Amino acid sequence: MNKKNINNIKLLKGNEKISMITAYDALMANIFDGIVDMILVGDSLSMSFGGDKDTLSITLKDMIYHTKAVCKGAKNSLVICDMPFGSYQNKNQALKNATKVYKLSEVDAVKIEGGIDRADIIKELTKNSIAVMGHIGLMPQFVRYEGGYKIKGKNENEKNRLIKDAKAIEEAGAFCIVLEGIKSKVAEEITEAINIPTIGIGSGKYTDGQVLVWSDMLGFFDKFQPKFVKRYFEGASIIKKAVNEYVEDVKSGRFPDVEHSYQ
Ligand code: KIV
Repeated sequence: MNKKNINNIKLLKGNEKISMITAYDALMANIFDGIVDMILVGDSLSMSFGGDKDTLSITLKDMIYHTKAVCKGAKNSLVICDMPFGSYQNKNQALKNATKVYKLSEVDAVKIEGGIDRADIIKELTKNSIAVMGHIGLMPQFVRYEGGYKIKGKNENEKNRLIKDAKAIEEAGAFCIVLEGIKSKVAEEITEAINIPTIGIGSGKYTDGQVLVWSDMLGFFDKFQPKFVKRYFEGASIIKKAVNEYVEDVKSGRFPDVEHSYQ
């Protein structure tokens, strides 16, 4: 299998649905590699890995560390790194930080939250040969500003604004856009309005592809299950069962046995 590039992904629009999953380390990236089209080193890292209550505290240094690890594990799928909150407040800062991500890891693209207001930043990066994935709708980096996670596309104004945002991001040179927490019908209209692929999360079935956070879809995070998450595995309960068995073996002296000892 050859390493995927952004043109391979763009060509899938209208031909084949696109799959993306998050990963934060080489171990999981290696398992997902080549099965999914794209692997996102999401800033959800701060919640699912770091135990934070939102994504705002993750640093550029942390993102680079985890992106480097994911790139070592993923040799076939396209890898994207989320630019963390506060790292792309203007064109110059964005270019400086995204260049650092490109130089210090082997990442294929960066992801930026925001619509028309961030178009100049996306343009600056793509002009400087840095591939960009956009992200509109429910944007987790806006959670404190907006006072919670709000579903988008609930009225005509919101719909028109989202379509305008998507068109501006496409025009700025992004190769793809994540549509998060958007009403299905509106996500479908956005998908039809632009020529680059849309990747949905909690935005229904009419987008060009889907993304899920790995620990949600594999049941490792089992405290809460958002409506849009389908669980394909019960990771937490399977691991707890195995660890309990190990503890029982240790306590009872069944482990280590002859098979697992050097004689
Ligand atoms: O950080 C993340 O995992 C994301 C996806 C949910 C799209 O941005």
